[in-house]
Amino acid sequence: MYPEVLAQLICPGHPQSRLELEPGAQIDKDGAIWRGRLCCTAPKASYTVDQGIVDFIGSWDLPTSPAQLVNYLAPTAWVYERAWRPHALTLLSGEPFGYDRELPLISQLMALEQGGLYLDVACSNGLYARALSRALSAVPGQSHVVGVDYSLPMLRQAQVFAQREKLSISYIRAKAQGLPFRDGSIDGVMMGGSLNEIGDVDACLREIRRVLTRSGRCFIMNLIQVEHPVGRAFQAFLGVGGVAFWTLEELNRRFRYNGLILKAQWRYGAVVFTLLVPAPVLAPANPVEVMP
Ligand SMILES: C[S@@+](CC[C@H](N)C(=O)[O-])C[C@H]1O[C@@H](n2cnc3c(N)ncnc32)[C@H](O)[C@@H]1O
Repeated sequence: MYPEVLAQLICPGHPQSRLELEPGAQIDKDGAIWRGRLCCTAPKASYTVDQGIVDFIGSWDLPTSPAQLVNYLAPTAWVYERAWRPHALTLLSGEPFGYDRELPLISQLMALEQGGLYLDVACSNGLYARALSRALSAVPGQSHVVGVDYSLPMLRQAQVFAQREKLSISYIRAKAQGLPFRDGSIDGVMMGGSLNEIGDVDACLREIRRVLTRSGRCFIMNLIQVEHPVGRAFQAFLGVGGVAFWTLEELNRRFRYNGLILKAQWRYGAVVFTLLVPAPVLAPANPVEVMP
């Protein structure tokens, strides 16, 4: 984790708190905090930074679904970008959809005119974080990208890939439902393929809305319900493991309900790309729009 992120961090669930780095922290040759402890100024809590990754969850977090269990396994983290991810969108969209088509969408839709702080939520191996970090190197102004995931093996692999490309990306272990960032501190949020397995979707979208600046943008790629009966049966099976699929209408209703306004959307088979911006004021939930 790089020190430039520190000023924007909070203790999850305590928006008024500040986090301070305890004296004696170990800084690596790139200037990243390699080992140390972040202490919360309000409640008595502290978080460990180990091998460059700050952990807001701790070791007692047991998997609550088969999907979470799979994501916690080191072999999954190793295989993810080496075997599955390069082909995932081609298989799921039903047309050739390599990184050459997918990754430019991020920098185009994030409208990178100046620097800022960007977040890859549920980043896995950090594919989007790296793509954005590369794009930001050509943009004037200070910028930084942070990858957040609840799986430590995924974050460790993400760090290896980023270091290999000499990209200075901060990695943080936290839940998408409790992002450890100040209100309105993030210029852009990206989330690739994770919404379907995120757990409490509304809490996650509310957190994204909370951390975005007023002019912030959010880019989400996720899967929706397919019409074909075989595909539907398979999605129902995955549902047992903790992966959820919605219709496009349900998905957009959830975005709206949680204060995110739809700016643009593209669908390719089961794959949907959405660009969202925060609603001007965080209005209380619309009473006529009750989410199940
Ligand atoms: C499909 S992968 C993400 C892929 C990645 N964003 C990409 O584009 O390659 C899903 C990731 O979400 C993470 N994840 C799932 N639920 C999460 C949650 N509630 N909070 C944080 N991370 C979560 C998993 O650990 C896993 O790494």
